[in-house]
Amino acid sequence: MEWAVERVGAVERWTIEGEPRRNSLTVALLAEGAEHLRRAAADRSLRALVLTGAGTRAFCAGADLKERARMGDAEVAGFHRAVRAFLDGLEALPQPVVAALNGAALGGGLELALACDLRVAAEGVELGLPEVGLGIIPGAGGTQRLPRLLGVGRAKELILTARRVGAAEALAIGLVSAVVPATRLGEEALALAERLARLAPVSLRQAKRAIDQGLHLPLAEALDLENRLYQACLPTRDRQEALRAFAEKRPPAFTGE
Ligand code: COA
Repeated sequence: MEWAVERVGAVERWTIEGEPRRNSLTVALLAEGAEHLRRAAADRSLRALVLTGAGTRAFCAGADLKERARMGDAEVAGFHRAVRAFLDGLEALPQPVVAALNGAALGGGLELALACDLRVAAEGVELGLPEVGLGIIPGAGGTQRLPRLLGVGRAKELILTARRVGAAEALAIGLVSAVVPATRLGEEALALAERLARLAPVSLRQAKRAIDQGLHLPLAEALDLENRLYQACLPTRDRQEALRAFAEKRPPAFTGE
């Protein structure tokens, strides 16, 4: 098994089980991951996910460079398509995904974290896109998702210098939204996912879509998109439940309908 999948209530934690190779991305990992994506996308009872790596050294060290060394050009191209499909599928999941950065996130490893919705890091981790020092460029979304997250100036500085940043700097520039001691990372990331899991599932899905899809549109079209996604929340039972819960001074119990 390339992934360990644990269910905790309405949350799943997906752990890359590749500590000896620093959780780097292999053909088998992506194939198994694609199955998990299909299952998760169809599971209405699953409300949020945590994605992390085994051990403390790496969240994910990017592509498995040993496997890569044995590949011909066509296989590399096929692998690259599989990475793209996996990251696109992860980003498109209806549920929010929290990346718990337990160790270094480099190259494809940082690109994996960028395809998640939120990132929480353990103190002491290093993040970076070292590709231009390796004769390639970030090719799994890094040149596109990093500037959308941090702005063009910061993204160019990080990508063109291939510099690694520590957790404190990652927090300061908005690359991660929280930094916690390594011993508390697991519980903090799970607590964040559980918090998301208590919110209205349709609202989460529509808000995620509004942000992700709206970013690529001119403002007027993006506002139209937001309006359509907002309207789709109005007939839900969960909206009525939130109004009732407010009147009854109790927390709402959402069902996703
Ligand atoms: N692919 C395959 N194996 C990898 C790997 C990768 N991307 N990154 C690390 N490993 C392997 C090492 O080859 C080593 O294997 P060995 O024990 O057979 O020699 C093992 O993982 C441990 O590596 P090491 O560098 O000693 O671990 P570390 O804990 O000191 O450092 C990293 C971890 C992730 C910081 C470091 O391995 C690293 O910088 N890796 C390269 C990451 C990278 O540049 N990725 C870009 C891809 S575009």
